Amino acid sequence: NGDPLVLGIETSCDETGVALVRGDTLLFDAVASSMDEHARYGGIIPEVASRAHLEAMVPTIRRALGEADVDLSEVDAVAVTAGPGLVGPLTIGASAAKALSIGLGKPLYGVNHVIGHAAVNQLVDGPFPGRSMALVVSGGHSTLMLVEDVATKVTELGSTLDDAAGEAFDKVGRLLGLPYPGGPHIDRLAREGDPEAIRFPRGLTARKDQERHAYDFSFSGLKTAVARWVEARQDAGQEIPLHDVAASFAAAVADVLTAKTIAACQAHDVDTLVIGGGFSANSQLRDMAAERCAAADIDLRIPPLRYCTDNGAMIAALGSAVVRAGVAPSDLDIPVDSSMP
Ligand code: KG4
Ligand code: ZN
Repeated sequence: NGDPLVLGIETSCDETGVALVRGDTLLFDAVASSMDEHARYGGIIPEVASRAHLEAMVPTIRRALGEADVDLSEVDAVAVTAGPGLVGPLTIGASAAKALSIGLGKPLYGVNHVIGHAAVNQLVDGPFPGRSMALVVSGGHSTLMLVEDVATKVTELGSTLDDAAGEAFDKVGRLLGLPYPGGPHIDRLAREGDPEAIRFPRGLTARKDQERHAYDFSFSGLKTAVARWVEARQDAGQEIPLHDVAASFAAAVADVLTAKTIAACQAHDVDTLVIGGGFSANSQLRDMAAERCAAADIDLRIPPLRYCTDNGAMIAALGSAVVRAGVAPSDLDIPVDSSMP
């Protein structure tokens, strides 16, 4: 079709992603990850990630082009994550995108990573309806957005005041002695536990918090509550019922995320909810969202996991929407912005 061919580059964290998108169609998505190198440190080391992006960038671009059977000269525009993310990794991606833009004489579009997590859904479930709600949950973000036009009109309704959902899982994983990243391990344990065994706190849901923080999240108090509960048991020389702790903790996170998100849908009269970000792999969130959206008559869209974690397709998808919306290209000297709102 006549839509522009957009090459998207993502390097905000530990994944080097390059994808080609035309319209809302994904031609190919190539990802290289440096997670294996970080696992032994128990967290992402920005310098290690930057070096890995540098090494992976050209091979990943070549791979995407080769698999999509596209010649570089056919690319109409280059989209890149301008933020938020780690400044070193972002800079590697932006430098590659700028070099391609200059070399090809094609426009450059710096786009927002978190909005990309929502935009990628269009490659799977087709264009968003007029208005929709997007919940982006990952190791770095827990953000609720009203999407009126994914390219031009996205409003942040709330976000986490402290830890992101995945980050809270990883921290609780560490205190339970699970390997990094702890999120998937807690998910697995939780599936065999009783979510009502322990009543952990639901952050920012008290009436006084609802007034100022109706759509914000806070998970650090919950993490502390889990730590105290576990310590008290250990001090008393008792065994820790890992499955029940995991299930009760996961239920508290899923409860707050879904309750606030559905309240936002209802308050804004929106009946489509898109969930994205690596944490959308979480079984407790998926189950609770499916159940509560069905009850509230909300159409729930969660793409397959490979599009939820960081990838180039999300950036190419958003770039494609931005180009088609007629937004002016970015200047070639656009800075990266590690804390882009
Ligand atoms: O989006 P992502 O791959 O990386 C970024 O943070 O950008 O998200 C990964 C985060 C990690 O914190 C990981 O522990 C968490 O999501 N995670 C999970 C699950 N799968 C990944 N947390 C809970 N349950 C899961 N199944
Ligand atoms: Zn992400």
